[in-house]
Amino acid sequence: MSKKHVYILAIESSCDDTAVAVLKNKKVLSNIITNQKIHKKYGGVVPELASRAHQKNIIPIVEVALKKSNLNKNQLNAIAFTKGPGLLGSLLVGVNFAKSLALSLGIPCIEVHHMHAHILSHFIENNKVIPNFPYLCLTVSGGHTQLVIVKDYFSIEIIGKTLDDAAGEAFDKTAKTLGIEYPGGPLMDKYAKNGNNLKFNFSKSKVPQLNFSFSGIKTNVLYFIKDQLKIDKHFIKNNLEDLCASIQHTIIEMLMEKLVLGSKKTKINNIAISGGVAANSYLRNQLKKSAKKHNWKIFIPKVEYCTDNAAMIGLVGYLKYLNNEFSEINSTAKARLTF
Ligand code: KG4
Ligand code: ZN
Repeated sequence: MSKKHVYILAIESSCDDTAVAVLKNKKVLSNIITNQKIHKKYGGVVPELASRAHQKNIIPIVEVALKKSNLNKNQLNAIAFTKGPGLLGSLLVGVNFAKSLALSLGIPCIEVHHMHAHILSHFIENNKVIPNFPYLCLTVSGGHTQLVIVKDYFSIEIIGKTLDDAAGEAFDKTAKTLGIEYPGGPLMDKYAKNGNNLKFNFSKSKVPQLNFSFSGIKTNVLYFIKDQLKIDKHFIKNNLEDLCASIQHTIIEMLMEKLVLGSKKTKINNIAISGGVAANSYLRNQLKKSAKKHNWKIFIPKVEYCTDNAAMIGLVGYLKYLNNEFSEINSTAKARLTF
């Protein structure tokens, strides 16, 4: 199918963000995200509430995204959607909406793996630098932590992954212990800016090869805080910035050590990060420092393409469109979709 311009509407609803984007080939024309505030008071995502909120948000957001792109829905060539992994009820809202709209417009649907989209988010034209193949990509989100070799758009090899919690979970769960509201990652990043990285010493997990483990730091922080609160009931308040900086430093060091090892083992010097935790300012800075030290060429997407978004779904949608990879009408959501 050779068309000069391909217009894709993309929908992402795998967790608690309802996101819609419109792309012209690899260029993002609009990228709209609605964060569901409702989960804050529960300290984590409540699946049932998330799917209800998606249901409420999706049509208005599609309308805003189309309006912002200056396109009419009849100009669209295809609808891309996140098939999985994620929360089933949330995914189903996006999948069913995508299929219904595509059917009514007489255009094809394209299913996208959420992690594939994070890994290829670098190719969104609105980013400053686009990677060369092969590149090593550290994909760090709330549900996943993976180190992959990206040989081509559709040839990706996982060479390391977490054995338990994801890096984003380590941020969110330790933040919760400090009384920081969900999701704790962005706030921890903010408070850490004025803190001392080395004030408190948390142990790093020792995991063989290129795998990761983040369950240890969660319990380490929990017991440390419990002990300190026995001595000073205002311990958290009095040390919040240093606590955030020290926890963040430990998590990011664990990620960086594996990235250095991965580059040594694979002899790949094109290094990329992606996923929600790639929005972390300390990780972004540490990567820049390592690039100088190890002579790496680094790729860091814009923050809006790190945290969950539909632009990355549209990017993979476009690449699949060029390959004529369309989904069947009976295609459905899959909570545990392997990659
Ligand atoms: O990719 P993402 O938006 O959703 C998933 O696919 O999971 O990642 C969400 C995760 C959350 O754990 C959130 O706390 C974390 O990314 N995150 C951050 C920052 N921004 C988002 N963690 C640390 N620093 C940040 N600035
Ligand atoms: Zn994600």
